This record gives sequence, structure tokens and C-alpha cells, in this order.
Amino acid sequence: MRRLTGNGTIIAAVAILVCAPFLLRSHIEEERQAAAQALLAEFPASPGAGDLRILRAAYSASSETWPKPKLHAAVTAYRELAALEIRRPRAEGHASLAALGQTLFEDPVLSLSGQISCQSCHNRRLGWGDGLPTSFGHDRQEGQRNALPLFNASYRETLFWDGRAPDLASQALFPMLDPVEMANHDSGEIVARVEASGKYREVFKTLFNDAQASMDKIKAALVAFQSGLERETSFDRFMKGEHNRLSDQQIWGLHLFRTKAGCANCHNGPLLADEQFHNIGLSYYGRRLEDLGRYNVSADPSDAGSFRTPSLRHVSKTGPYMHNGVFPHLEGVVNLYAAGGGRVRSERAKSPDDPLFPHASENSPLLEPFKLTGDERAALVAFLNAL
Ligand code: HEC
Ligand code: HEC
Repeated sequence: MRRLTGNGTIIAAVAILVCAPFLLRSHIEEERQAAAQALLAEFPASPGAGDLRILRAAYSASSETWPKPKLHAAVTAYRELAALEIRRPRAEGHASLAALGQTLFEDPVLSLSGQISCQSCHNRRLGWGDGLPTSFGHDRQEGQRNALPLFNASYRETLFWDGRAPDLASQALFPMLDPVEMANHDSGEIVARVEASGKYREVFKTLFNDAQASMDKIKAALVAFQSGLERETSFDRFMKGEHNRLSDQQIWGLHLFRTKAGCANCHNGPLLADEQFHNIGLSYYGRRLEDLGRYNVSADPSDAGSFRTPSLRHVSKTGPYMHNGVFPHLEGVVNLYAAGGGRVRSERAKSPDDPLFPHASENSPLLEPFKLTGDERAALVAFLNAL
């Protein structure tokens, strides 16, 4: 009995000697993880190299384990940021149809004057926009809105700043019939000009088994072309495991985007857009440049001043920014959000008798003013440049 106890003591002692380093190590590991969690929950405004290393480790893991985003209670359909799965249609004939679409996209035959093509306002070298605050069209008339980039138009649930078109096929006629864009009076006129040009008979015959021009053929080709414009970004590659694609500063910006700056409330999911409409205070209600956005489509007063959340993919190449192109640089955009959005200055907006009171002058509740240091703002902009 005594011998047994003696053996037991020896076994226990050996067990302690063997396990102690592991126990100690797992204790240290637990403490380290708790410290990392605390750091991530309240990330410092002037992080040191060690802090940035911890942030990088956290964001290099699966997005399911990322620090929780800081969201407003009203956001119910949050989708985590993610790589966009880029579609490469492989259907037979798609490539030829897209090539025809590109030719039509670049052909001014689609405009009344014979001088304006889709490409006039959507230029590959200008991020598929035109680099201007607002576009010039027929007779150099200036439009009211900024030309949208086309990279991911085929992935969106609605099109245009106010979401007035449901898909690319129905969208195509809008610019062609817009009096300040391509200025045609009706679609018959466009089809007749394409037919008269004689240029497309052969390719229509090959692709559609019928040489006659028609609006359906023109649309199908334009859609096929525009569906192939999306490209992989540094952020996509980071998300697919190439972790050197984002610098420490950009990862810091990603964290701010999801937390303190509140951007992910609306810019979320693989497109960095929630497919909703929000008023961020840029409607110029009651002033010369008034644009009430979604309200012009829905006639619902609560939509006054709301615009569709734009995708932020490729955003570094698509300035100037906003529906009216009011910001030449991303720094200006960040300053606007830090202030809680824009302000409607008209007296009319303050009157309860006004039919759009109080909606037109109320910014989305998802916008909350925030304070970021100069370094934090630079990190946020650096992240936007990776998108
Ligand atoms: C005169 C300039 C101009 C021309 C020409 C023009 N566009 Fe646009 N495009 C714009 C502007 C401005 C917008 C944003 C308008 C709005 O939202 O009200 C836009 C928006 C779009 C969108 C919506 C993208 C999105 O994300 O919602 C698509 C798609 C598009 N254009 C395709 C075309 C096609 C195809 C053509 C030729 C048939 C064309 N555009 C001709 C200026 C132009
Ligand atoms: C309440 C929802 C919401 C939040 C929060 C939000 N945005 Fe936006 N964002 C929008 C809407 C809507 C627009 C278009 C507004 C307009 O043109 O009037 C926009 C436009 C933009 C644009 C212009 C894109 C372009 O192509 O012109 C950028 C850049 C941008 N947001 C970045 C940010 C950043 C950075 C943050 C965080 C600091 C942020 N957004 C927070 C909804 C939001």
C-alpha cells in the first residue's frame, strides 16, 4: 500500500513536470489572445508596429473570425466584405456577341448627331466614367449627374444613381433617348440608322441568323460587352489569401471602414454596396442644383434626397465622386462623412408645411459623425485605394 502511494507521488510529480510547460504556455497563449481581443475592440489611434501586426493577423484569418463590425441597430442585412466572384460567361457565341457590343458601344451611330458614343462618357481609361463632375452630351449640353463607372453594372440589382432601371437591357435605351445625352427621339430612329450604315448586316446574320438590325440585337450585344468589364482588385486577392496585397496601413483602413468610420453600414458585401437608397445630405434641396434622387422615381417623400449606394470597387479610378461629382478626391468624401454627411440649407426644408418635410433635410440615421486623426483618415483612404 505504501509502495503504491509512493509510486502515485512519483507519477504525479512526473506528470506535473511534463505538463507544466504546456499549462504555462497555454496560459500565456490565453492571456495573449485576451490582450489581442482587447486591442482589437479599442484599436489605438496611433498604433505601434506590434499593434499593426496583431491587426494583420486578425484580418488574415477567415472573415468569420474578423473583429465584429460596428453597425447601427437599423442595419439588419449586413453582408461581410468579400472577394467578388467574377463571372466569365462561357456560353457559345458569347465572345462574338461581346465583341459586337464593344463595336456598338464605341460607335456614334447610336446618337442623333452621329458624334456621341457610349464611350464618350464611359471611357476605359477613365475608370469607365468620363472624369468629369457631370457629363456633357448632345450639343455640349451638361447633364445633371456624374457618369457611373461600368465595371460591375451587370452585378447590380438596380441601375443609375436613383435605381430607375432594373437591368442592363432596359438601361441601354435611357442614354440613347435622353435629350442631353444621345438625343434620339425613339428607338426606331436608332435601328434605322444602324441598318442604313450597312456595317452590321453581316455580323447580325452570323450571330442571330438574320441580317436585319433590331433594338433587341443592339441591346443583347451591349449587355454582353458590359458584362465582361469587371476585374480583380488587390482587395479580392487579399481575400483569396494573398495577404501581401494589402499594406499594414490598408489593413488599418479596412478595420476603420468596418468600425469607427461606419462605412460598412451601407458599403458592404462583395460589391461594397447594400443595394439600398440613403440620404447623405447632398440633394441641394431648394437650390439651383437640387436633385431629389430616388424620390423622382418613387414619389415617396421618405425617399427625398436618397441615392443608391454606389459600389466602391475600383473607386480610386472613378472620381470625381457622388451623383453630382462634387468631390474631386477621396479625402473630401471622408471629411463629409466625418461631419455626419451634408446639410440641406434651404429655409423651405424647415417648414412643416413643405410636402417633403422633414425627409428632404434628414440624413440617414446610419450616418453618425466620427473623429479620426489625420493618420487614420490617410489609412482609410489607403484602403479605398485597394478596392
Ligand atoms: C452623355 C454622356 C453619356 C452617354 C453618351 C452614355 N452614358 Fe451611360 N451614364 C451617364 C451618366 C451621367 C450616368 C448616370 C446617370 C444617372 O444615374 O442618372 C450613366 C449611367 C450608366 C449606367 C448605369 C451604371 C450603374 O452602375 O448603375 C450604364 C450601365 C450606362 N450608363 C451605360 C451606357 C451605355 C450602354 C451607353 C450607350 C448606349 C451610355 N451609357 C451612354 C452618361 C452617359
Ligand atoms: C448611410 C449609408 C452610407 C454610409 C454609412 C456611407 N456611405 Fe458612402 N455612399 C452612400 C451613398 C447613398 C452614396 C451616393 C450619395 C450621392 O451621390 O448623393 C455614397 C457615395 C460614396 C462614395 C462615392 C462613390 C462614387 O463612385 O462616386 C464614396 C467614395 C463613399 N461613399 C465612401 C464611403 C466611406 C469611406 C464611408 C465611411 C466613412 C461611407 N461611404 C459611408 C451611402 C453611405
